Amino acid sequence: MARRPMMAANWKMNKTIREAQQYTAALLPRAADAEDVDVAVFVPFTCLHEVARMAEDTEVIAGAQNFFYEDSGAFTGEVSVPMLQDAGAQAGIVGHSERREVFGEDDDMVARKAARAVEAGLLPVICVGETKEERDAGNMWEKVSGQVRRVMEELGEGGDVVFAYEPIWAIGTGETATPEDAQDAIGRIRELLEEIRDEGFAEGVRILYGGSVKPDNVGEIMAQEDVDGALVGGASLEVESFMQLVEAATETVPSDG
Ligand code: PGA
Repeated sequence: MARRPMMAANWKMNKTIREAQQYTAALLPRAADAEDVDVAVFVPFTCLHEVARMAEDTEVIAGAQNFFYEDSGAFTGEVSVPMLQDAGAQAGIVGHSERREVFGEDDDMVARKAARAVEAGLLPVICVGETKEERDAGNMWEKVSGQVRRVMEELGEGGDVVFAYEPIWAIGTGETATPEDAQDAIGRIRELLEEIRDEGFAEGVRILYGGSVKPDNVGEIMAQEDVDGALVGGASLEVESFMQLVEAATETVPSDG
């Protein structure tokens, strides 16, 4: 089954509303040409409504970088899935390693967030990945498979999700996993999903790679059989470099004729 690639910009804690407007205005006409690729932008809460409004009648997906699994109540500082949808979000990152490492999110919380998103029809992009110490100790798969299993347990038979394999040592460091490392981990995640759920699910689910994806390495990463796109931080902050990544992804899609 041919999976539709997804190129996702993760702005992290960057951009004012004004900067978000300028970026989105430049992105939309260019992204419109990338018909075979899903282009998503995961933006700070403060500019989400504006980006979603601008992208409303386009194919560009506006998303949030985080949310909580309860819908409302005494959770100071949190934003719920219905609130995101009210602001126009169609997707949300779940369990980014910076959420896990800096803000103490554990596998249970990540799994509950993913399940709440699926239930509400918000597409979750669920991040998994190991630290340098875990990789060096030969524990990459133990860590990653545990993260995937916990999410799948909570999802039950639930619907559309995207996974992102992001080795923590490659995020924002300039140190990219080799294309073979990316393929190895992502291929194993797909096999695990088949074991947990079924072949149809495993073959259909998109699994992105994230960690220092740049215009000069995107081609070889996207050429890997099981890699369905990228979640990009640094190189997504400028429209020009993000669009180079989107265009590289477009080139991996076989043409119909
Ligand atoms: P990076 O970030 O591209 O800056 O390494 C990726 C991510 O954290 O999603």
